[in-house]
Amino acid sequence: MDKFDLMISEEEIKAKVKEVADKISRDYDGESIVVISVLTGAFIFTADLVRELTIPVDKIDTVQISSYEGTKSTGNFIFKKDITTDISGKNVLIVEDIVDTGRTLKKLREMLQMREPKSIKICTAFDKPSRRVNDLVPDYNCFTIPDEFVVGYGLDYDGKYRQFKDIMIVRTDNE
Ligand code: IMP
Repeated sequence: MDKFDLMISEEEIKAKVKEVADKISRDYDGESIVVISVLTGAFIFTADLVRELTIPVDKIDTVQISSYEGTKSTGNFIFKKDITTDISGKNVLIVEDIVDTGRTLKKLREMLQMREPKSIKICTAFDKPSRRVNDLVPDYNCFTIPDEFVVGYGLDYDGKYRQFKDIMIVRTDNE
């Protein structure tokens, strides 16, 4: 049986998401945005975040990326599911669950940049900067966390535990 230790409670998450949403609303004052949620992990954070925004949201779209490691550890990426929104000239806010190595978001941002949006920013629920392999820095981040594998609030271990309301450190059977 996997075991769990509480890292961040539901109440703390709720308060911080509101705080970050308020900052986003202030930063984009007078503008509208297109939200792109990175599936599957960001679905819960996206749902909470967009409901706290006070700026117009033109579209909410989703993207799913499949990464596979090549012979070197650089990784390659394909869209498992692309967005259907035309983002040219739009303010794009990418919403992600967690930034770890930073590879996914760096590549996704590059791929979306080619479609000539007015701006692109990244908002993540959790950030593990100690794991970064590139210079990616999210524009908005709710919680900086240590190098632990966490589940809940959309984050999974082998597909499980996404529905947990709190963020928990998982101690797997393999440990
Ligand atoms: P990156 O490209 O290494 O930044 O990968 C980020 C992705 O790795 C996230 O979207 C998650 O799907 C997954 N990931 C990284 N750390 C964790 C974790 O602690 N728990 C669950 N998933 C994680």
